[in-house]
Amino acid sequence: MDIIRSPEQMQTRAADYHRQGRTIAFVPTMGSLHAGHAQLVKLARQHADVVVASIFVNPLQFGVNEDFSRYPRALDSDSELLLQHKADVLFAPAVADMYPHGTAQTSFVEVPELANELEGAHRPGHFRGVATVVAKLFHMTQPHTALFGEKDYQQLLVIRHMVRDLNFPIQVISVPTVRDADGVALSSRNAYLSAALRARAPLLYQTLRHVKEQVQSGVTDFAMLEKQASSDLQAGGFVPDYLTIRHAHTLAAPQSHTENLVILAAARLGETRLIDNLQIGPI
Ligand code: PAF
Repeated sequence: MDIIRSPEQMQTRAADYHRQGRTIAFVPTMGSLHAGHAQLVKLARQHADVVVASIFVNPLQFGVNEDFSRYPRALDSDSELLLQHKADVLFAPAVADMYPHGTAQTSFVEVPELANELEGAHRPGHFRGVATVVAKLFHMTQPHTALFGEKDYQQLLVIRHMVRDLNFPIQVISVPTVRDADGVALSSRNAYLSAALRARAPLLYQTLRHVKEQVQSGVTDFAMLEKQASSDLQAGGFVPDYLTIRHAHTLAAPQSHTENLVILAAARLGETRLIDNLQIGPI
């Protein structure tokens, strides 16, 4: 596996692959890789001749009071995981090379509406940062296919919109969330949880499952379900930002319980903010 640091070198390498007629599958990450990322790389292998993974902790998608500086970084163990899962290239650029004129001076990509609610409302500017860096990474790695985890469900929809609106010739593949045995969605941020808080974490997924069961058993009073679920989370020590049932494709409030739905939640457990979701019906 080659490690490429410079955006220009990455672009040249991607152009070489295109010239050779080789297809590229891309897995963008912020590192601190876990089994969820391994799954993305494994699937990427099935979709293209060459697998490129990136590791870049993107300052543009963190708010001023968020965890950019303490976000876990583990390049050595990440490289081993990528090698083990047969990635061909690890692209790991420096912040100064991605944003040579500073993050305040960079052009950006804004995806309207979808990006301004739920995560977007609680983390203003977050999706602008995500869309901008993913667009830049797409230009640098020139993939035919890009793989994203469904755990960041709203992010997945934002990226799909950007790809559609800006005509990126890229197939976006979503990959189901990988969970620990107790149901907790794998996330690099789980490392922040103390043992005591980690023991409480399964309640988030249990609550989502309970809501899903209620909807599937015919309960149509979604406001009541959301309220009950939020208070269950609170009783278990979480501080919810939202728990909401939405249309699975638009994230609009559902008109009927027979639509494709998704239950999305974000809640703090101690200092750690966890997000998770559960789809009801096919995506
Ligand atoms: O999901 C992530 O890890 C990040 O948001 C992404 C897509 C790599 C962009 O920085």
